[in-house]
Amino acid sequence: MKALILSGGKGTRLRPLTYTGAKQLVPVANKPILWYGIEAIVAAGITDIGIVISPETGEEVKAFTGHGQQFGAQITYILQAQPAGLAHAVKVAQPFLGDAPFVMYLGDNLVQDSLTPMVERFKERHLDALTLLSPVPNPRAFGVAEVDESGRILRLEEKPEHPRSNLALVGVYLFSSAIHGVIATLEPSARGELEITDAIQELINRQMRVEALKLEGWWLDTGKKDDLLEANRIILDAYSNCVVNGSVDDQSRVTGRVSIGEGTQVINCTIRGPVIIGDNCHLENCFVGPYSSIGHGVTLSAVDLDHSVILQGARVEGIQHRIVDSLVGRRATIKPGPSHPKAMRFMVGDDCQIEVV
Ligand code: TTP
Repeated sequence: MKALILSGGKGTRLRPLTYTGAKQLVPVANKPILWYGIEAIVAAGITDIGIVISPETGEEVKAFTGHGQQFGAQITYILQAQPAGLAHAVKVAQPFLGDAPFVMYLGDNLVQDSLTPMVERFKERHLDALTLLSPVPNPRAFGVAEVDESGRILRLEEKPEHPRSNLALVGVYLFSSAIHGVIATLEPSARGELEITDAIQELINRQMRVEALKLEGWWLDTGKKDDLLEANRIILDAYSNCVVNGSVDDQSRVTGRVSIGEGTQVINCTIRGPVIIGDNCHLENCFVGPYSSIGHGVTLSAVDLDHSVILQGARVEGIQHRIVDSLVGRRATIKPGPSHPKAMRFMVGDDCQIEVV
């Protein structure tokens, strides 16, 4: 069995971060989202992995992730010239996939469940497609499945006006090589993409074996800021530990699970975990509250923040108000002017979101 991770796409929902970088490389608890997927696939015993990349962000994904040695896998990169849909990505990857059955994993999704039971069920029941489903409060925003008691999928609809269930398709699928035959016959949808839901529906129409498993644990599509912060909270809650490699002075108070990277200096700060701080950071006179991830090389001085993600090389200084629920991009600077701030002065790029609360 092979695996195909989709790491191309437009990333419009995570702008402006995705103007300058791949959304799949945005870190959750200081590790790129994409790597969680690779690790889950390898843990299920699959080591031959193709990663679909875009012309805009593909080189960055390659440079970061390499050819798989660190994961115990072999990674092949597959260029998709345009983000023409999930089924289009499979079409482009066909030379890599050949006739092998494969796991398809959306590179901006995080799934708590192990993939092993999915892989076993797919093999035992000789399926042509197996999807993961999760109940959601707003099924109109998702691909929605109607299933019978045995787990067979009866019908799929993409973002339906009148959903027949609250079961959304999670971003992990297993396919036999039969999927290539139906993708070859697909026409682009109203939004101009080759839809994977249309491909699976066509398998159902052709009486092929299409089943679903319900997800037991959490699932996050990190394509938007609040989902990304939620992913950061869940991962820090579940997996963070106390590893202090940097230096913490006597004036500082560090409580709970706090991990501090090499070369990082913490001076006169209060840090309440779960928190992860990368390497070579400088934190002085700060409060850093729970569920915060601070990337490598970040400077925080006289700030008070919690439930936030600060990316590599950012600098935040002397902000009087607490910073909450925030995502600060790489190398961004937030600082007050020379006098005591009575007004705010901004230079804000397209699609940024600033809430003064
Ligand atoms: P989406 O999040 O559905 O699409 P997108 O990346 O274009 O994002 P947005 O809606 O914010 O504009 O894609 C799910 C995953 O699949 C994501 O990792 C990107 C990837 N993908 C491809 O690799 N090729 C494609 O043609 C598309 C549409 C997505």
